[in-house]
Amino acid sequence: MRLIIRQDYDQVSHYIANYIKERINEFNPTEARPFVLGLPTGSSPIGVYKQLVEFYKRGQLSFANVITFNMDEYVGLARDHPESYHSFMWNHLFMHVDIKPENVYILDGNAPDLDEECKKYEAAIARVGGIELFLGGIGPDGHIAFNEPGSSLTSRTRVKTLAYETILANARFFDGDISKVPKLALTVGVATVMDAREVVIIITGAHKAIALAKCIEEGVNHMWTVSAIQMHPKGLIVSDEDATLELHVKTVKYFKSIEHVHHSLIGPENLSLQGGVKQLKSRVVIETHSAP
Ligand code: GLP
Repeated sequence: MRLIIRQDYDQVSHYIANYIKERINEFNPTEARPFVLGLPTGSSPIGVYKQLVEFYKRGQLSFANVITFNMDEYVGLARDHPESYHSFMWNHLFMHVDIKPENVYILDGNAPDLDEECKKYEAAIARVGGIELFLGGIGPDGHIAFNEPGSSLTSRTRVKTLAYETILANARFFDGDISKVPKLALTVGVATVMDAREVVIIITGAHKAIALAKCIEEGVNHMWTVSAIQMHPKGLIVSDEDATLELHVKTVKYFKSIEHVHHSLIGPENLSLQGGVKQLKSRVVIETHSAP
């Protein structure tokens, strides 16, 4: 797993948006071979989406052959409610780019049979050959999608009861009124995320510093579901300096030094060299996961 640390939220957003652009363009998707992207909601990805829209406007990125799967959706909130994840995704990304509406998958929290809806979602992911890159954010309690503490790390898409801490955290989107926050959601499982060929997680802000430390410095633990990324062959976390506040200085220096060596070998722009052994243009082969 790699940890990239940037100064602030804007730099984190820029790094990740650039990373996604490079991955999609490198993949060179076609109608027959689309790029399948997993996406989150929340405040964390807003900067990334803004930058992706910018790339699209500049003609540097197209979503014409991109299929997206969102992580989650509230149960019982009208699809056109301003705080539904449907509204969020269309407002922040989809309506500004050339994605085909039929290529956008978001769980339907108003489906008559919610269990069936979840099964259909997993089947739809399988039908398109799985997810190439899953972008995620986390809650301050280390949850990924709506996989609250204690969720099985082998979980799949399902109905979840939200933790009180999440309801509180999300009340800011509902006039600060916790009674307006839906208490149930549909969410992809931890295993659904980890099945993606690549997982990229945004972690910014001092309020997520404990979660980052738990995720990086402690073991895989269902109480911090994002820690499952330790088991992923191609996991990347991008955080700002504030989120590193609870990490050991040694941990921060270690990951910064890895990035430094990486840059000195291949230059900062080759963002796609991530995880595993890859052959470089210069014919140099390095292992980015090797211990110091
Ligand atoms: C919700 C979403 C998560 C998201 C989290 C963090 O709980 N279900 O997918 O990661 O919020 O939100 P924010 O990025 O606003 O901190």
